[in-house]
Amino acid sequence: MEFKLANKNVFVSAASTGIGKAVAKLFLTENCNVTICSSKIDKLEKTSSELNVLNNGKIHFVKCDINNLDEIENAVKSAEEKFGTIDILVNNCGGPAPGFFDDLDEAKWKQGFDQVLMSAVRFTRLVLPKMKAQKWGRIINITSISVKQPIDNLLLSNAFRSGVTAFSKTLSNQVGQFNITVNNVAPGLTLTGRLHELAEIRAKQAKVSKDEMLKKMAADIPLKRLAQPEEIASTVVYLASEIGGYINGQTIVVDGGFNKSTY
Ligand SMILES: NC(=O)c1ccc[n+]([C@@H]2O[C@H](COP(=O)([O-])OP(=O)(O)OC[C@H]3O[C@@H](n4cnc5c(N)ncnc54)[C@H](OP(=O)(O)O)[C@@H]3O)[C@@H](O)[C@H]2O)c1
Repeated sequence: MEFKLANKNVFVSAASTGIGKAVAKLFLTENCNVTICSSKIDKLEKTSSELNVLNNGKIHFVKCDINNLDEIENAVKSAEEKFGTIDILVNNCGGPAPGFFDDLDEAKWKQGFDQVLMSAVRFTRLVLPKMKAQKWGRIINITSISVKQPIDNLLLSNAFRSGVTAFSKTLSNQVGQFNITVNNVAPGLTLTGRLHELAEIRAKQAKVSKDEMLKKMAADIPLKRLAQPEEIASTVVYLASEIGGYINGQTIVVDGGFNKSTY
């Protein structure tokens, strides 16, 4: 089976580390042209030089705070100037602030809205006209297992990722006629910087070490282990490929069986 992705232009947001970086890396190994963005230039430079070794000249980076519309516009423009029309958009974002209802003030709700929901809407709005014109495109949002089973202290994630899910399902109905698919990949517990941060918080609350908390998290998963970022990335690349081209309007959960619901 071939993915047939060579020379496709890919944009991955929030991709200096973690799942976004793993997604960018896998597209590079498929010989795509990949633009990554994140808010910290030093992290982007480091990741870019690391990934450039894989596929010389096919990675491009641009600093972009995805909470900011002007920076999003600039990032898309920069990617288009470097490689041309974006064929595949992967909407990733940093995890929104954790917290229970009483921990979240107006400012945190507004930031979660911009970061999780509006960043996906804004990137999509900018790339969609050219995807429609060329009658081919893929939009893939990284969401979370929280859309199937809300996580207690991640209220912003629970709320706004459900918004992304509804947004992408609705959009998929409207743009399928242009040979554009829109899907979500919902990771479960995945070993990245974000998970280490969350484990640290939960460890303090439970008065155990972070390593003990990570072990406890893994024990709650039927596969008895946490995911590697590459295991999320492979699903993203499959959805982007020609052979994954009939999957549309879906949320694919990649969680080792953690979610207890039947659908
Ligand atoms: N890891 C998990 O277990 C898990 C599970 C379910 C869902 N998720 C979700 O999947 C997404 C990726 O998670 P991850 O685990 O890969 O996180 P991560 O390792 O912490 O990486 C987050 C990325 O987001 C970038 N970022 C943060 N704020 C940004 C901003 N304002 N503008 C642009 N980029 C920004 C960071 O780069 P800079 O610091 O350079 O900006 C970094 O590249 C998150 O939304 C997370 O909530 C993760």
